[in-house]
Amino acid sequence: MLQRFGEYNPNPHFPHLPLILLFGILISVFVSLLVQQPTTQIIATIRYDNLTMPASSIRSIGVVTCSTRPTRVNPYITQHISELLADIIREVPGLRGAALETIDLEAQGLPLYDEPAVPAGLPADDPTPHYRAAHTRRWSAVVRAHDAFVFVTPQYNWSVPASLKNALDYLYHEWGGKPAAVVTYGSRGGGRAAAHLQQILTGLKMVVAGTAVPLSISMSDIDECLAEGALTRSVVERWAGEGGVTEALRSAAGEMGGQ
Ligand SMILES: Cc1cc2nc3c(=O)[nH]c(=O)nc-3n(C[C@H](O)[C@H](O)[C@H](O)COP(=O)(O)O)c2cc1C
Repeated sequence: MLQRFGEYNPNPHFPHLPLILLFGILISVFVSLLVQQPTTQIIATIRYDNLTMPASSIRSIGVVTCSTRPTRVNPYITQHISELLADIIREVPGLRGAALETIDLEAQGLPLYDEPAVPAGLPADDPTPHYRAAHTRRWSAVVRAHDAFVFVTPQYNWSVPASLKNALDYLYHEWGGKPAAVVTYGSRGGGRAAAHLQQILTGLKMVVAGTAVPLSISMSDIDECLAEGALTRSVVERWAGEGGVTEALRSAAGEMGGQ
């Protein structure tokens, strides 16, 4: 028997049941959207969980000193991080046996970006000979010689120093697919720089460890380190204690090694 449109009702005792169910579903979807936490909320530990770390073995890790100013604490911090990493990577299967090499951006002598080409448009398998400038070809070779990178950088005005952004911009395919970890320092650990840098490295198709390592250092600490020509014992002990630098570094290294 045919029924006219609007007359069909599968449950004559609860004529509005379908409408009530639909309304209930809409309410629950709305509530779940309201309580959902955005993943980018935590500055120092932004995670890019959609990326998986490559399982290939890493033979050489570049530890990058990113500040290029004449009076800088960056080399002392890079050295300290390298010393900690030397112990840590022995415990990480994917990194065991890897060499650690310091790369000082100051020594690269890169001018403000002066290549005519867009690096992403060059041949992916061998971009190096296609750069116009000798400094770019040299920098390309340095980056190609390493399988992973730890960037040790200060925070400058809530981001990374221009020297680092410039050095990253010079190349494209050389970075792609390689694991990277971020160590930042500033009066509150440089978490804003870490967040920016993780985003930039993700744009370069690097495989970025979600765990960043933020190191807090005051202006008076910096003056003392510069006077001493090394990190002061009080800074190192504070980072080791409340800062838990080794734990954070171990976690980042574990991600780099594919754990
Ligand atoms: C241009 C500039 C911007 C800075 N911006 C910040 C900042 O945003 N947050 C912060 O905590 N410190 C900031 N500082 C202080 C640095 O943390 C401090 O100078 C540190 O020593 C810089 O590292 P470097 O000596 O290795 O260059 C800034 C320093 C400079 C030179």
